[in-house]
Amino acid sequence: MRQRYLLSLLLAFFAQTVLPAQTYRLDVGLGKTGAPISSTQYGIFFEDINFAADGGLYAELVKNRSFEFPSNPLQGWKVFGNVEVLNDGPFDRNPHYVRLSDPGHPHRWTGIENDGFFGIGVHGGEEYRFSVWARVPEGGSSKLNVELSDPASMEEDHALCDAELAVSGTAWKQYELILKPSKTLDKAVLRIFLDGGRLATDLEHVSLFPVDTWNGHRNGLRKDLAQALADLHPGIFRFPGGCIVEGTEVSSRYNWKNSVGPVENRPLNSNRWQYCFPYRLYPDYHQSYGLGFYEFFLLSEEIGSEPLPVLSCGLACQFQNEGDDAHIPVDCLQPYIQDALDLIEFANGPATSEWGSVRAGMGHPKPFNLKYIAIGNEQWGELYTQRLEPFVKAIRAAYPEIKIIGSSGPGSEGEQFDFLWPEMRRIGVDLVDEHFYRPYEWFLSQGARYDNYDRKGPKVFAGEYACHARGAKWNHSYAALLEAAFMTGIERNADVVQMATYAPLFAHVEGWQWRPDLIWFDNLRSFRTVSWQVQSLYGRFKGRNTLSLKMSDANVTGSEGQGGLFASAVSDGSKIYVKVANTSEEPREVVLNFTGLKKKDLVKAVEGVRLDCSDRMAENCLDEPDKIVPVSFAFSGEGKTISASVPPLSFSVFILER
Ligand code: AHR
Repeated sequence: MRQRYLLSLLLAFFAQTVLPAQTYRLDVGLGKTGAPISSTQYGIFFEDINFAADGGLYAELVKNRSFEFPSNPLQGWKVFGNVEVLNDGPFDRNPHYVRLSDPGHPHRWTGIENDGFFGIGVHGGEEYRFSVWARVPEGGSSKLNVELSDPASMEEDHALCDAELAVSGTAWKQYELILKPSKTLDKAVLRIFLDGGRLATDLEHVSLFPVDTWNGHRNGLRKDLAQALADLHPGIFRFPGGCIVEGTEVSSRYNWKNSVGPVENRPLNSNRWQYCFPYRLYPDYHQSYGLGFYEFFLLSEEIGSEPLPVLSCGLACQFQNEGDDAHIPVDCLQPYIQDALDLIEFANGPATSEWGSVRAGMGHPKPFNLKYIAIGNEQWGELYTQRLEPFVKAIRAAYPEIKIIGSSGPGSEGEQFDFLWPEMRRIGVDLVDEHFYRPYEWFLSQGARYDNYDRKGPKVFAGEYACHARGAKWNHSYAALLEAAFMTGIERNADVVQMATYAPLFAHVEGWQWRPDLIWFDNLRSFRTVSWQVQSLYGRFKGRNTLSLKMSDANVTGSEGQGGLFASAVSDGSKIYVKVANTSEEPREVVLNFTGLKKKDLVKAVEGVRLDCSDRMAENCLDEPDKIVPVSFAFSGEGKTISASVPPLSFSVFILER
């Protein structure tokens, strides 16, 4: 009897869920609008890893432009003739400079040559602004020859372009000229040599930027890379890291105060990604801070994101330091707390305030309207909570309107995670930053991760995540598809997960330490990965409110019996976006069943957009940047139910209108 009853229940269940021919019914509830989707929901996270800043987004083409690399002030430079390094230059925090003197014979030459970051990439016919601080220490005037060259050229002349620069007088002055290379080259060098006159000439802060930077800023950003960020329409922009916020020692933490003001006097900082992995060493990787906090705020504003700076909490990287000695004792934290308060003043204070005036002096009298700040990156244990607390108290007292983000540690679950979440509640942060670089199985099993999160506590910031396949630790379509699938759970739980940012953002193909990454580039080109395409689809079809979407009254999270489907739905006024990731190898027939409509109301299919990930290991690349991009497909029908096919290993957005 009992068995028959169970059987009939089972049959009823299948009849309702799996329609004939393996049709999966997705019930989209239109009776009630769900939680609002925060404007910060999808965003970007920038860290100077993989040469993302110097040699990447920051458009400066000269490496070690201030002769300050610590192991060798001439690292990155070839010198010839009579060159000296001196250290009483015009910029107190970058005191080194070079003196070019007569080589001693009219047929010899004195000069310096810089090969940039993996070479200097230049586009033929475009303009490049060369600038240098210079003087003639003994007085009088000298001439420099400045050229972009191709040392590997078979032409008679190495130069792609050259120009003469006259330097005069004993006072340091900035000189500049425009170079226009005759041809495109990814690995040019900048060559400067003493010509004519041959009076000793001092050079400092040797710089070369494309004139055509993102929005034309002089201390600007590489256009294609900034555009790849803007095209995501990110709602939140977390910077400047990551582990570099913490530093290997506290003294090498990212110190925002050193990253603002005139670029010539921003002191160099080391970069932990230089030496983090002994099997991928980059001995010439430092942080010039040319891309500093002012530039980060400006970029946030220009791409329409809320800025989210992350600051050191006084802990050096806990992965790199065992024991307590490396960290700032709790009773000595005040200067670090002051740094956080000063940063808020830098961003939001009036132009007459101490730090607001620095911002205004850099060209932005209006506040940047900072709303969020994160204290600490991947910190853990009581070492962290003891330090976070006084930060939170001080920020709340001075700036109660600022939302504070704390950390749940480096793991997506486990002991530290379980310790930190209740602690974050107790301390009363507004959002908790979760990080997960996890394998396929994890992403496939976490579709429901946020469904039962506490609705009353702090919100979630999924601040760093990416699918890292075991044995396939590079970008590929299948990993991107699983990210898309997982993100349906973020979208469904938009009331809890209010920010999410993939990581890392950028990687130079010749200079990476960590992969996968969202955007890859070389000196001239870049491409947007399939993971970027996923992020872009979520940004483009973000919607304004969640809608309930169920299969047999259950959320669609790839669980048993759901055919490898993950799905979510949002509304945007009269528009409805249904996202479906099919992680299975089989096509799936789905019926979108709209509930909660009035009798006469219908829903109309408008179109579909789909990312085909069926070639699991395939990815875009520099030579084929658009190999895998979303394509529109015809999606039609009108009624309370609309059928659709979902190909194997694909991510689809169904666009409808009510
Ligand atoms: O994104 C790369 C690194 O991963 C970040 O610096 C750190 O926060 C995490 O461990």
